[in-house]
Amino acid sequence: MPMHRLTSITIGVPNVQETAEYYKDFGLIPAKDETVSAYSAEGLVQAQEHRFSTVDGGEQLRIVHSPRRRLVQLGIGVEDRDDLGSISSKLQRLDLNVKRDETSLITEDPGSEVRVMVEIAPKLAQEPVPWPVTNGPGRFDRLNARAPGALREQRVHPRKLGHVVIGSTDQEASTKFFTEGLGFKISDKVPFLASFMRCSTDHHNVLVQQAPVSYLHHTSWQVEDVDEIGRGATAMLEKDPGRHVWGLGRHFVGSNYFWYLKDPAGNFSEYYSDIDCIVDDQLWTPGVWEGHAGLYKWGPTPPPSFLAPEDLAGLMAGAHGSE
Ligand SMILES: [Fe+2]
Repeated sequence: MPMHRLTSITIGVPNVQETAEYYKDFGLIPAKDETVSAYSAEGLVQAQEHRFSTVDGGEQLRIVHSPRRRLVQLGIGVEDRDDLGSISSKLQRLDLNVKRDETSLITEDPGSEVRVMVEIAPKLAQEPVPWPVTNGPGRFDRLNARAPGALREQRVHPRKLGHVVIGSTDQEASTKFFTEGLGFKISDKVPFLASFMRCSTDHHNVLVQQAPVSYLHHTSWQVEDVDEIGRGATAMLEKDPGRHVWGLGRHFVGSNYFWYLKDPAGNFSEYYSDIDCIVDDQLWTPGVWEGHAGLYKWGPTPPPSFLAPEDLAGLMAGAHGSE
């Protein structure tokens, strides 16, 4: 497929400084903050933008001001201008607006109102991280040595942005936009609620779920293994136990280990490892999954606020306000 990865995301929040502090604690690497020109209700203003990098993915998160929390922009990488051309034609066939220049195009998902930038970007080449040697029944591979997961002391830093999950008031239109407009492939489905879609070999890079208001449900960040999920989340909770949302567990759809935490604006952020990897479409059969069985294989029962975040009513009121 012409697309090969998510490049970066821009999250809009009312409390920029506080939210930026959270993502620093989460292990993202702060870049130099920038003052940028932005349009607001007062016209063109100077606003602070906080930027963060992952270890392997480069600059992948921007935090900007917005009256209500939302995903402002999603970046998707393609290889060359031909890819931009073919995506541009597909979007125009759906009667969607496309702004195009030499290296990128900008469009908008009609269901979620998220701006999508498709840009020519280098492919992500991650150095393989060897799986830690383990012991098991009748198998003694790590001899006379403590486990790496027990010895690690360094801070956890996410390796790359893996996926985003957004609520859309028109899940069908959003799914059509991502699949027919951009060329995402569907990996699995939950009928009438959500489609897990990929633009890379990861099981999903975008999940759109039906919601009463468009909003950002969560962003997900890859770490090396389940020990790093545990160590990362533990460090976050030592600083503020109120950040806990759901984890530790293993999803069924996508298979990844997970732990979800909450930023001060109300967006969830997930540490994940070991997600399914689809390299041959012929060898993967998309499934249709219903209820909790599709959601997770093991872990604590998900809190109701994971499925319907507590601030949804407030976000709905905000969406009908001045924004
Ligand atoms: Fe996730």
